[in-house]
Amino acid sequence: MPDFPAARIHEADVAVIGAGAAGLYAALCAAREHANVVLISATPLAQTASYWAQGGLAAALAADDSFALHLKDTELAGRALVRRSAAEILVREAPECVRDLQALGVRFDVDRVGHLVLGLEGGHSVRRIVHAGGSTTGRRVVRQLSALAAEETRITVFEGARAQALWRSEGRCRGLICDDGRVITARAVVVATGGAAALWSRTTNPPGSQGIGLMLAHAAGAALADLELLQFHPTAVIGVPGREGFLVTEAVRGEGATLHDASGERFVDELAPRDEVSRAIQALLEESGAQSVGLDMRAIDPASFPNVVAALREAGVDPVRELIPVAPAAHYMMGGIVTDLDARATIPGLYAVGEASCTGLHGANRLASNSLSECFVFARRAIADALSHTAVEPVAPTQAELEALGELPAPPLADASTRESLWREAGIVRSGDGLSRLLDAPHPLTALIAQCALARTESRGAHVRAEYPERDPSFDRRHAVLSAEAPLCWQTWS
Ligand code: SIN
Repeated sequence: MPDFPAARIHEADVAVIGAGAAGLYAALCAAREHANVVLISATPLAQTASYWAQGGLAAALAADDSFALHLKDTELAGRALVRRSAAEILVREAPECVRDLQALGVRFDVDRVGHLVLGLEGGHSVRRIVHAGGSTTGRRVVRQLSALAAEETRITVFEGARAQALWRSEGRCRGLICDDGRVITARAVVVATGGAAALWSRTTNPPGSQGIGLMLAHAAGAALADLELLQFHPTAVIGVPGREGFLVTEAVRGEGATLHDASGERFVDELAPRDEVSRAIQALLEESGAQSVGLDMRAIDPASFPNVVAALREAGVDPVRELIPVAPAAHYMMGGIVTDLDARATIPGLYAVGEASCTGLHGANRLASNSLSECFVFARRAIADALSHTAVEPVAPTQAELEALGELPAPPLADASTRESLWREAGIVRSGDGLSRLLDAPHPLTALIAQCALARTESRGAHVRAEYPERDPSFDRRHAVLSAEAPLCWQTWS
């Protein structure tokens, strides 16, 4: 039996798992309200997906923009599956979050007179993407928030610690155990562990993005939803050793970069929503047998995309002189831990924010750069809600509970063959036969993804079923929900 000396038990108001954009901001919001926070950071900063985010924050800030227009674009991209209440919150609160981040010292790109420079990406009808250092937005934001978190005395950071299991007692999530034996008891636990796109072998994500938080939450009894809805980014670098899967931001297409087939012809509206662009590329690749299409950013100012240009040059491709070989890769999971509008999961005391969560806001196809905005908008809401439950106090686990917790298995990482099989059977176009083969996969999340994908017998947004090529209106606004107790059920969220 594991031994649990008292010194291994830490008490906090809020425990945050994950130190990407959503987790850091949640921790800082809680500390600002005088709460004590434990922040669990399994990976070094540069291995979080947020750090690599080249996109920015979508926010209706321009004179020709409005909340209504941002909402309309979000809903159009989301293919009749967007939860309107969540999207309304996002569009209304994103501008405030931009201002708050500025107040926290994040230096977004501004023009000569100090106005924010707004970029354009696919599916947006006007310019509304705020960047920091061009395509280095994630790095700039995460660095600044990490520096603040490190200085904040109310935040204790457990670096290198991994959450092994959530602790649930008397119907409430009351903390967690880490794989080094440390136990954190808290009034609220916020899961901010990012998404699961690295479960697919071809991905833009860092290797750790394998849905760890989803597995933790599901094992504790929280509901997950829409796991079949995995967005493929159209322009990941392919066939360049050392840079496989490297993302070339959609913002380059917003500035005029174009996509070309082998004969140099353009074949798609480069600024259509991502599901359309990815499908058009995939269809072309299947028809031609080619591995990649060419992305032409030769006419674009390289100074706006410094990390893209530097990374490609290092790998021997000069985007200022030649076309970049690109193809779609797994990028973002729209599904995740089911949450309400205050980021509450289905277990009291448990919250999920950022890509780990499923508010329903992205529907079946996320609008570019809505995700970073979502991290901040819903992290702030999670903390406001968590701290409003003043009657909830951290309680100490009994020795028996500690021993039971210590026995719980940590969420596993998928092996190479599982990741290959997800790419093969749950890729851009899926079939019932291929998905059924995933049902027996040993990796717990793989089978759950297959269950959701099999149940959605239609094509919608990022989910394309070969046998059901059309959208079926009877699935409009219906989310595939997997709870611990019941088989998959369909829910419509208000
Ligand atoms: C990109 O910059 O193209 C990716 C950002 C996002 O996924 O929204």
